[in-house]
Amino acid sequence: MADLTIPEGGFWPAPEIPQPNIYPMEWHVETEKLAAIYEKSKRELWNPADLPWDGLDPADFTREQRLGIMYWFAVLANFDASGPAVFARATIQAFEKHEEDPVRKCFFSITRDEMNHEECCQRTIAKLWPGGPLDWTPSDDLESAAHNNIGWLYHNGGRYWNGYTSAVGKYSLPVLFTSFMMGEMAASTLFRGMSSGTKHPVFSEMFKRIGRDEARHLQICMTILENEWPGLTDETRALITRQLRAGFVFLSMILWEPPEGFWELPPYFLKNHLVLMDLARQAGLGVLSSKEQAQNWRVAMAHIRAIVERWGIAFPAIPELNLEGVHVDFIDPEEIIPVF
Ligand SMILES: [Fe+2]
Ligand SMILES: [Fe+2]
Repeated sequence: MADLTIPEGGFWPAPEIPQPNIYPMEWHVETEKLAAIYEKSKRELWNPADLPWDGLDPADFTREQRLGIMYWFAVLANFDASGPAVFARATIQAFEKHEEDPVRKCFFSITRDEMNHEECCQRTIAKLWPGGPLDWTPSDDLESAAHNNIGWLYHNGGRYWNGYTSAVGKYSLPVLFTSFMMGEMAASTLFRGMSSGTKHPVFSEMFKRIGRDEARHLQICMTILENEWPGLTDETRALITRQLRAGFVFLSMILWEPPEGFWELPPYFLKNHLVLMDLARQAGLGVLSSKEQAQNWRVAMAHIRAIVERWGIAFPAIPELNLEGVHVDFIDPEEIIPVF
């Protein structure tokens, strides 16, 4: 017989833990499909350090092309490099709200993947433009334009982060996930297009792998939404419609061109942005033409429309892409949630 202490009158019940809290520990599983996706994410893990970096030689590019590539990755980083922090926060939230175990684990896996994606930005920039995105001194007008644009871009990234951190606890799962789903749809669209467009072995390998991760992230979001969408209230539906417009406005910066309505940018930003994007394009990065970008983005948005309309959610008007829908006006930074 073990030498136990049994109090007279029975054990004392432990105090109830005030919620939200990550305790008590438990691992309940409701959605087996998510558990399977998490397993797949572990098997498909890759290491950005193992990409054939020796094949990325700065001498293969003109200085302007190197600047263009650095600029493109600096723009990408506005989205992809926020991923780890955005999903780390969402992961903590999922623990505190005691979401089922596979939801928490899938969030963690997205955090892990996004760290790889931001490492790709970091490594490419370090190789081609040491000091980039911002810790270098421009030596001519083109370089000054690039440096200044990146500063403005990150000013908006900072607004997104402030909005996100105050909004993430406020929104319910369906709202949050519709926004994440948009980001993942955008990301998988972007990298599918670019991996077919680039001829460079490092970028081709990089975009293929990132694209595969993004497609898995999209699958995670869709699986969670299939659980969450039935039983939406009208109020939540209306909120999601606004979120879809917010996602379009935010993500268009990397998918296509930044529309009016959120971005605080100086009047010369867009023109210089397009010049720099064109340099990246000429360098063989796989940046699609503006027309192809718009077409891909339109197809992706139409896909999202088909998905959400099945659940009675109205789609916002996207006049920029000739997509009809409900008019949504001004977008607050706090409404911008999506992440790559
Ligand atoms: Fe992603
Ligand atoms: Fe990503």
